Amino acid sequence: MSINHPDTKRIAVTGAAGSLARDIIPRLADAGYSMVCVDRTPPAESFGQDWVLTEVADTGTLVEAFRGCGAVIHLAGIPLEDDWDRILSANIDGTHSVLEAAHMAGVPRVILASSIHAAGFTPVPPAGDFIPDNTPVRPNTLYGVSKAAVEALGSYYSDRFGMDVICLRIASRIDRPRDVRMLSTWLSPDDAARLFTAALTDSVKGFRIVWGVSANTRSYLSPDAGAALGYVPKDDAERYAGDLTGPAAPASAAESDWDRQFIGGVFCSPRPPRQPSMHPST
Ligand SMILES: NC(=O)c1ccc[n+]([C@@H]2O[C@H](COP(=O)([O-])OP(=O)(O)OC[C@H]3O[C@@H](n4cnc5c(N)ncnc54)[C@H](O)[C@@H]3O)[C@@H](O)[C@H]2O)c1
Repeated sequence: MSINHPDTKRIAVTGAAGSLARDIIPRLADAGYSMVCVDRTPPAESFGQDWVLTEVADTGTLVEAFRGCGAVIHLAGIPLEDDWDRILSANIDGTHSVLEAAHMAGVPRVILASSIHAAGFTPVPPAGDFIPDNTPVRPNTLYGVSKAAVEALGSYYSDRFGMDVICLRIASRIDRPRDVRMLSTWLSPDDAARLFTAALTDSVKGFRIVWGVSANTRSYLSPDAGAALGYVPKDDAERYAGDLTGPAAPASAAESDWDRQFIGGVFCSPRPPRQPSMHPST
């Protein structure tokens, strides 16, 4: 495939051995996409796709992997609060390398995994109000700072080189909501696949920031930019509300003061959780 004529049904996915990728790769395959999957870690399952094992810092290897692809979905990185040198290297330098490789390989579209924590200190709005997709960055962690930088890099590559770059500010991507805050912020695995599939279409050009959230009754994250992409979420966290607010609800599901104040919840506290059981996306 010529670099001037990328195949819209051939895409690259970085971080393809990770948990979000495991949710979306089979669903993208069902939608007719073939993939070159990139990760530094060998996958538990190949999903019948091509694999390239590399650090995303290796721009030259990425250029070869990306050649002929119609889009890159960039998921590789540290999904947790961590030390600055690790965050800087994996999330910021890594995203620069991916965007540079996409540009060099002639890939017209890149989907970047941002996070609600890029804007985590945004106050929770009054009931019924929505926070716009492109609300200014207000990071609540160094992780959130890295996602703000990811968005800035995407904006730069879009304006400078004419690339279409869609930044998905993913909220709480998890099998099912596990606390009251997630009744507002949940992104179901099926809706995550719907969101990434919509972002791959060229319905929207240029640079966009889009909330990654399901059709939750209690959502305060605007659905507008997702709708413009053609994203139609189908899941609603409300069906779990009884389990999380009723008399039998676990104490861990209760809404904290941080959850009431800021969209980034407890990750806005002075000691944001770092351990894997408290993933920042939650
Ligand atoms: N999962 C969520 O709910 C959520 C929410 C918001 C944002 N995100 C973002 O989505 C992306 C994927 O998240 P996840 O939950 O699947 O994380 P994960 O840790 O399960 O997967 C990340 C993958 O990236 C790979 N990776 C990390 N650094 C790399 C490097 N330098 N070179 C090559 N590969 C590298 C890892 O080996 C891993 O397989 C991350 O960027 C994360 O910040 C996820």
